Amino acid sequence: MCGIIGFTGSSPAVPILLDGLEHLEYRGYDSAGVAVISPEKGLQIQKRKGRLSALREKLDGLPPLEGTTGVGHTRWATHGEPNDVNSHPHVSQNGRVAIVHNGIIENYAEIKEFLLHRGVRFRSDTDSEVVAQLLDYYFTDGSDPLDAVYRVLEKLEGAYALGILCADRPDMLIAARKDAPLLLGYGQGENFIASDATAIIARTRTVAYMEDGEVAVLTPRGIDVYDEYRRPVEKQRHTIDWDVSAAEKGGYAHFMFKEIMEQPEALRHTVSPRLRDGEVAFDELSLTEEKLRSFRRIFIVACGSSYHVGMLGKYSLERFLRLPVEVCLASEFRYSSPLVDERSLVIVISQSGETLDSMAALREAKALGGYILSIVNVVGSSIARESDDVLYTWAGPEIAVATTKAYSTQLVLLTMFGLWMARALGRAGGPEYAAVTAELGLLPEKLETVLAGTDVYQYLASLYFNRDCVFFIGRNLDYALGLEGSLKLKEISYIHSESYAAGELKHGTISLIEPGTLVVALATYGPLIDKAVSNIVEVKARGAEVVALTTESQRERMEKLADHVMVIPDTHPALQPNLGVVPLQLFAYYIALQRGCDIDKPKNLAKSVTVE
Ligand code: AGP
Repeated sequence: MCGIIGFTGSSPAVPILLDGLEHLEYRGYDSAGVAVISPEKGLQIQKRKGRLSALREKLDGLPPLEGTTGVGHTRWATHGEPNDVNSHPHVSQNGRVAIVHNGIIENYAEIKEFLLHRGVRFRSDTDSEVVAQLLDYYFTDGSDPLDAVYRVLEKLEGAYALGILCADRPDMLIAARKDAPLLLGYGQGENFIASDATAIIARTRTVAYMEDGEVAVLTPRGIDVYDEYRRPVEKQRHTIDWDVSAAEKGGYAHFMFKEIMEQPEALRHTVSPRLRDGEVAFDELSLTEEKLRSFRRIFIVACGSSYHVGMLGKYSLERFLRLPVEVCLASEFRYSSPLVDERSLVIVISQSGETLDSMAALREAKALGGYILSIVNVVGSSIARESDDVLYTWAGPEIAVATTKAYSTQLVLLTMFGLWMARALGRAGGPEYAAVTAELGLLPEKLETVLAGTDVYQYLASLYFNRDCVFFIGRNLDYALGLEGSLKLKEISYIHSESYAAGELKHGTISLIEPGTLVVALATYGPLIDKAVSNIVEVKARGAEVVALTTESQRERMEKLADHVMVIPDTHPALQPNLGVVPLQLFAYYIALQRGCDIDKPKNLAKSVTVE
C-alpha cells in the first residue's frame, strides 16, 4: 500500500526522498511523487504515474527541486484511477499546504461538499486531497499551523498517516497518524517520518512508533510529539538492529528468490532460541498456566497467507490441545458477531503487523474480552503493540509481496506454541512431543536439501508456464498447504488456480478435469497417503496431468502414478508442510519467471494492506 517518507535536515531532500521511496517500492504502488519547500521557491511538487523510475526520469529532465525539507509518496490507488493528477503529494488551491496520505478518509465526500460550497476547487478524484484543502481553509497567515492540523484531524473519519508541509515553514514537517502505520526517525541534525524503517535505515536506526491520535512536529533540531488532546508525549525510542543488506537483493534476481533461500536461516532464528534441552521455551510470553487453563476456545484470525498458516495450525493445535480452534478471515471476523469472550484465546497472525483487517479484528476481539496473542514479523508494528502477548518470527525484513520466509516462520512458531501450551496444560504425550521437538531442530537442514535441487522446479515450470488454470488438491494438512501453493501461483504468475480438499472433488469440481488439465496433487501427509493415491487415480482417469508433491518414503509409489514428482524429506507429519511449502514457492517462482512477470511487485497487490 501507499508508502510515505518525510525528511527535514540540511542536505538536499530530493535524493533522500527518492532513496527512501525506492525502499518502500515493495509495499506495492502505481504512482510516485515528491514535494519539497525552500525559502526562495516555496513548495515544489513533482509526481508521476507508474514506477519510481518514471518519476526519476521526469526529475532528471527538470532543474533540481530545491529544499532540505520534503515528503515523498508511493500511491496504491483506492479513490481515483492511477494517474499523474491523483498521485500524491496533493497541494491546496492556494498553494500553502502539501500533503501525503496513506489510508482512506471515509467522510471525504462530505468534506468535499463543504469546501466546494465555499469556492474551493479540487483537482483530483482522491479522498486525500480534502485534507490539503481543509488545512488551507483553516489556515490563517502567521498562526501556528498546528491549530489548523488539530481542527482538521477532528473532522476526519477513517484511517490516515499524514505528512504535511506548509509553504511558509521551510524547515518544518508535520505528521499525524490514525490506524495507518507511521514512524519517526531521529538522525544527527535531521529527522524523518516513514511508513516503515526500510525507508530510512540508511540514515538512522533510532525510531519511535507513532500511536493513534498523535501528531508530530519535526524540524532538523528535533521532534515534538503531542497526543490527541495536544499534550506533549515522551516517545520511547527503539534501535533497529537488522542490517541494511537484509532489505537489499544481495546479488539475487528477485527478493522473492532471496527470501525463499533464506528460509533455513530464518527458521534457525525462529526455532533455536526457543528450543532448550528438547523443550519448547517461550521466555517472552507472560501467559500464566492459570490463564492458559481458563481458555475454552481458540480463534486464529489473519488474512491471505497468514490465514493459510492458521488453517494448518488448526489441525496441529486441535490435535495437541483437544480444544476447539476456529480459523477466521480477519475481514469477515469483525462483522460476524464472533463468539469471543474472556475464556477465548485469539491468535492474530501477521507478517507486517499493520494489516488493517487484522488490526480491526484484534480490536474487536479485545473489546469482547479475548486474550490476544500475536505472531508477527515486524518488530514494534501496530498489531504487536496492541496485543497482550507477542511471538516474533524473527524472519528479518520480507520485501517481496509474495510471502515466503514469513509464512514458514509463522507456521513453525504456531506449531511450537501448540506444543508449548499442551505441555503447560499437561496434554502433550511424551513420545509425540519428543518426536516433534526433535524434528523441529532438524527442519533447517532438511530445508537446505530441498533448496539444493531447484532444477526440477525450473524444468516443471518450463513445461507448465503457459497453462491457464491449475488445480491443487490434498487432504488434511495437504489441503491447507495447497491453499498456499495456489495463492503463491496466482499472485505472482496471474494463472488462475484453485485449491480443493481432494475428497471434495467428486462433489462438483471434478467436472472441470479434462484431458491435459494440470493438477498438483499434494501427498505428503503420511496418515492419508492411500486416500491421496485414490484421488490421483481419479483425476488421471479423466486425463489430468499430475505433478505430485510427496515425501522421500513415498517417492517410488508416486513416480508410478504421477507424470512428475516433487520430493521432500520425511519429517513428523505435523511439520511436513514446513518442508512442503518450499517446492510450491519455487514452482510458482519459476513459472512467473518464465512468464516474464514482475515477481516482487505483482500487479494490483501491496505488501502491507493498510486499507479495509
Ligand atoms: C501473501 O503472499 C500475500 N502477500 C498476502 O496474502 C498476505 O499474506 C496478507 O496480505 C496478510 O499480510 P500480513 O501477514 O502482513 O498481515
